[in-house]
Amino acid sequence: MVSNDYSDVLPALLGDGRMSRIHLFDCVDSTNRIAKDMLSDGAPDGTVIIADSQTNGRGRLSRSFLSPADSGIYLSYIIRPDSMTDSISSVTAWTAVAAANAVESVCGLRPGIKWVNDLVMNNKKICGILCELCHAADKSIGIIIGIGVNVTAKDEDFPPELRRIASSISAQTGRSVSRTELAAQLIKELDIMRGHWPDSGRKYLELYRRDCITLGKDVIVTSGDNRKKAFALAVNDDFSLSVRFEDMTTQDISFGEVSVRGMCGYS
Ligand code: BTN
Repeated sequence: MVSNDYSDVLPALLGDGRMSRIHLFDCVDSTNRIAKDMLSDGAPDGTVIIADSQTNGRGRLSRSFLSPADSGIYLSYIIRPDSMTDSISSVTAWTAVAAANAVESVCGLRPGIKWVNDLVMNNKKICGILCELCHAADKSIGIIIGIGVNVTAKDEDFPPELRRIASSISAQTGRSVSRTELAAQLIKELDIMRGHWPDSGRKYLELYRRDCITLGKDVIVTSGDNRKKAFALAVNDDFSLSVRFEDMTTQDISFGEVSVRGMCGYS
């Protein structure tokens, strides 16, 4: 039984037709985990799972994603690609642009994108994206796009160890933002993105490059236990990040962690 604000407002904003592929929950362990089960049960492309809170919200690199009730959006979106010739990393980057579009249209300010998939405002993370490639029981393939947005939390609501790193849209903009309106806009943007992905990506690449706050900055590239100082040169056409190390060698990075000095807790 769902008794949160989504069930009252989303049908009015999205229409009953779209709601037939949207599943609302009060509290789950992880919407990505539920999405995987639904994928195995044959859920169609464009299926959305939203929860008011998560007890085991998952982030990249085996981290957790804090998901308290009433203050954030925890949403998973299922894509069933025709083939796997297209890399999952482009979905992650496209999703960052789609999520930035949604935030801008609802709160009037556009967040920056920290390569590869965090949205930031005033150097604090307000949104994280976790895309997972999954194999359904019938051997078909699916991509689960998981998005977590900190919408209305106050800075003091974050545990002390996260306050330097993360914040919410309301805390950073000083504006009151409707969680349901933003969730509806996010779904609209994901539907538009799905209509374009993977073929017509020029616009997403242009916006990604324009908004990527990692570019032109000193960074630390972490790979396992190895941390190296570098400078972020460019976002390549496949959304990999071109970096130059202190020994002047360059490398294109597709996965892993790139920390930007002065941002999200790295000083
Ligand atoms: C990150 O910042 O490392 C990614 C965070 C992704 C969190 C979202 S919340 C909805 C979906 N379900 C999960 O368990 N994780 C993603």
